[in-house]
Amino acid sequence: MCGIVGYTGFQDAYDIVINGLRRLEYRGYDSAGIVLEDGNNKLEVEKTKGKVDDLVKISEGLKGTSKIGMGHTRWATHGVPSDRNSHPHLSNNNKIALVHNGIIENYDTIKTMLTEKGFTFKSETDTEVLVNLIQYFMDLNSETDFPTAVRYALNEVYGAYAITVMHEDFPGVLVVGRLGSPLAIGIGEKEYFIASDASPFVEFTKEAIYLEEGHMATISLENGVDIRTINDNSKIKPEIQELKLSLEQIEKGGYEHFMLKEIFEQPKSVHDTMRGRLLVDEGVIKMAGIWDHIEKFKNANRIIIIACGTSWHAGLIGEYLIEEYARIPVEVEYASEFRYRNPIITDKDVVIAISQSGETADTMAALKLAKEKGAFIYGICNVVDSSIARITDAGSYTHAGPEIGVASTKAFTAQLTILTLIAFKLGKHNGNLGNADFMSLIAELDAIPKRIEDVLASTNELVQDIAKDFVSTTNFLYLGRGYNYPAALEGALKLKEISYIHAEGYPAAEMKHGPIALIDENMPIVIIAPKKGHYDKIVSNVQEIKARKGKIIAVVNKGDTQVSAMADYVIEIPETSECFSPIVASVPLQLLAYYIAVYRGANVDQPRNLAKSVTVE
Ligand code: F6R
Repeated sequence: MCGIVGYTGFQDAYDIVINGLRRLEYRGYDSAGIVLEDGNNKLEVEKTKGKVDDLVKISEGLKGTSKIGMGHTRWATHGVPSDRNSHPHLSNNNKIALVHNGIIENYDTIKTMLTEKGFTFKSETDTEVLVNLIQYFMDLNSETDFPTAVRYALNEVYGAYAITVMHEDFPGVLVVGRLGSPLAIGIGEKEYFIASDASPFVEFTKEAIYLEEGHMATISLENGVDIRTINDNSKIKPEIQELKLSLEQIEKGGYEHFMLKEIFEQPKSVHDTMRGRLLVDEGVIKMAGIWDHIEKFKNANRIIIIACGTSWHAGLIGEYLIEEYARIPVEVEYASEFRYRNPIITDKDVVIAISQSGETADTMAALKLAKEKGAFIYGICNVVDSSIARITDAGSYTHAGPEIGVASTKAFTAQLTILTLIAFKLGKHNGNLGNADFMSLIAELDAIPKRIEDVLASTNELVQDIAKDFVSTTNFLYLGRGYNYPAALEGALKLKEISYIHAEGYPAAEMKHGPIALIDENMPIVIIAPKKGHYDKIVSNVQEIKARKGKIIAVVNKGDTQVSAMADYVIEIPETSECFSPIVASVPLQLLAYYIAVYRGANVDQPRNLAKSVTVE
């Protein structure tokens, strides 16, 4: 949701900013902009609707001209994607430039006030209001210096923001601030980097400060990093962290798209999620986050899982897992609904938040609400040190590695892996999962990375061929039962978000309560029908579809005959216990969505209107 890059040091700021924006383009990609301080301390701005490549076309002349600057890649909130609405935005006196990620909710009131004072606005953005508010405070009192004016302005706004600001009269200085949107400061040798995540600077330094909520920093080569609280200007001691991220992890590694790379990484990512946790030989699952708070889980009235999108689908499967194996009641809620419906939460509830990015605004707000009401908060995040990871009482990282493709794939299967470990761990502890079953289940779980590897090898080409037949299709149905009902929802979401084909997921039995009306010879139906998991019932559903001439794409176990005989296309996956089948079945569904989208010429890694990290509600 918008990417910010900033730099001051001895290297060419243009290169650092542009390359950094390319790495952050997954966060937003409808427009891009850059501002550099030139040799006369003047601010040079270039910005445009479109991608970073479009920005490069108009800004190459700035290459080699400056050692300090900042840039932005946008995901529109206020105002359509256009040159005018692109960041950086300049103040009326053209002296202050600002890039912003987030939403200033009271921008309208401030805009009215500024308009009355004579300010004018070129864009429809909330950001232009903020940059002019900074100018306003400086104009008001000539004693007010630049960082102070930024602080005054931030104290007037509410909403969510990560900002970086430059001022022509304060050369060599970058001022940053954050509330609700992430911002990291990379500390190099005689250079500083600013970015929405560490990927733009990981090749230059392994040391970073993650700016905390409600903090701002003034950064210059002369005075280093001065961190203050926004509300009362108290000085904060910087906490420098060592980055675990490597450059290799954030590059495509020979794949055409990040999404394909990430689909193929799943044997490794699922293995990494279990590493050090699943100790099959010792017959234990080690999860400090759960173990240290086992009484909370044991005595919980219920577990509430909150999440959005794909993570919400993982949560639904988590419900099946935890209720089956640990027999603890689970409710799964969309974070956006939970936070606004005055939910009943007590200190006997355990709330699990699932979020790949760890920055999703709705999930974060729902968590804060649950925390205020006394619930114990557990996080399942992929991004280390993300905002959600930091406000939870305890949690487990998924360790899937950076997920750059906007459509979530390996993070989803890693979330399922963590939820499986939690369910087995709790079930074993509270006696609902007997030792023999536990041992056999963990041995099977341990082999899941190999199962995924087999599925990738055996289905990749087949699915590629199947995809060719559906390039012009306009609708899809995805059906599954039990554990594979959420897998069907996820399959449908993958297809719609990257191919723009309308797709619906349903529990297979619900089909006859409405969606069956849609079925004719033009409707493809993806049906997940593994042997273990209401197979006989699924057979009846397939017959109902067949009778209405629907085109059946069946995901079945190897050696299946009954469903396969009725299906138009058959994708075979290895047989597993039912609880593992969503992990294995999701892989060919990810491939199906991917190849259909590629054949339709869609931008798979950066689908229209989407962003990787949804930091606005
Ligand atoms: C879909 C997708 C989104 C996210 C959702 C929540 O492929 O990626 O639906 O799952 O925006 O994001 P996180 O998990 O970062 O909270």
